[in-house]
Amino acid sequence: MINIPFNNPHVTGREQTYIREVIESGKTAAGGRFTERCETLIRQHTGAPNVLLTNSCTAALEMAAILIGTGPDDEIIMPSFTFPSTANAFLLRGARPVFVDIRHDTLNIDETLIEAAITPRTKAIIAVHYAGIPCEMDTIMAIAKKHDLYVIEDAAQAFLSTYKGKSAGTMGHLGTFSFHATKNIHCGEGGALLVNHTGFLKMAEILREKGTNRKDFMAGKVEKYTWSGLGTSSSIGELAAAYLCAQLEDAREITAKRAMHWNAYDAMLKSQGTNGKVSTPFIPAAVQHNSHIYYVQLSSHERRNDIIKAGKSTGIECTSHYEPLHLSPEGMLFSRKTLLPNSTALPGRLLRLPLWPDLPEACINTMTAIISNSQ
Ligand SMILES: Cc1ncc(COP(=O)(O)O)c(C=O)c1O
Repeated sequence: MINIPFNNPHVTGREQTYIREVIESGKTAAGGRFTERCETLIRQHTGAPNVLLTNSCTAALEMAAILIGTGPDDEIIMPSFTFPSTANAFLLRGARPVFVDIRHDTLNIDETLIEAAITPRTKAIIAVHYAGIPCEMDTIMAIAKKHDLYVIEDAAQAFLSTYKGKSAGTMGHLGTFSFHATKNIHCGEGGALLVNHTGFLKMAEILREKGTNRKDFMAGKVEKYTWSGLGTSSSIGELAAAYLCAQLEDAREITAKRAMHWNAYDAMLKSQGTNGKVSTPFIPAAVQHNSHIYYVQLSSHERRNDIIKAGKSTGIECTSHYEPLHLSPEGMLFSRKTLLPNSTALPGRLLRLPLWPDLPEACINTMTAIISNSQ
């Protein structure tokens, strides 16, 4: 029997060398050479004007909530089909998440439903780029402009994806990435905040550094650092930054290897013909994606679960994805009584297939055969 995990974090081979350098230098705290190198690489890869490396995407989202001045009277528009951090970042500031349904094709927020959810209390729209496939950003940005709202891109899964040639994370006022072990490019726990609206930059730097101007101190601009504003502890230590640096250097190659497998799944499922019982991912023409997730939508919850079981019996680990937040115990406490038909129905039929750079071809052949035969 083969043994194929759902995820198998890629290692470039240089992580240990870089980590050893940090240990030998004795400079393991945040804000050193590797943090700087990672921020430069992310800027080069995405074209983002300002990048602040953080210890997670969650931390970056929490910083974004503070930067836009989120408070108890605010409503924040977001999809329900997302990770709890998208909502928690704003709930922590006392604001209320307002869930808008997702599109049936991309599973991203349905941009045509956003305007109806806007009230005088709305402060921001959160665009979550599911599976690394960016949302319909032109429409979202136009709505935000018309109603004077902030846009934050939760691009946790979308590092190196683009929409009309612009990198995910760089189109909203703020953007966030995740470098968690489950992501294409990773360091165990890590993230980044993209400060596209430069007016937020100074506050963001102080915020990340526990409310101090340590960044200026590290750059030799001040003799001593001091309490300068609101603070969180969102920076990342140099050991993790060193690991991430090796990954970011190879980001294009890693993504290309993933794309090979993503395309193989897609081509095989499309060519085998599945009697319309399996929907393969829809990629809008404006989008180039980073092959983060290969998922299919099946005709029923039962069929999805049967396929997970059949995969497991051959040693292949397939999985579902987010439970929609409006149906979770916490989400039910404040969710509006709006119907979210796609967010309610689709996640139960969604199946994610193993995808990592050195994935054996046998996995793709076996899983596509199981899916095609399970009519
Ligand atoms: C859409 C989304 N946002 C935020 C997060 C949280 O990322 P992190 O684990 O880096 O905090 C995740 C995690 O997978 C996610 O999928």
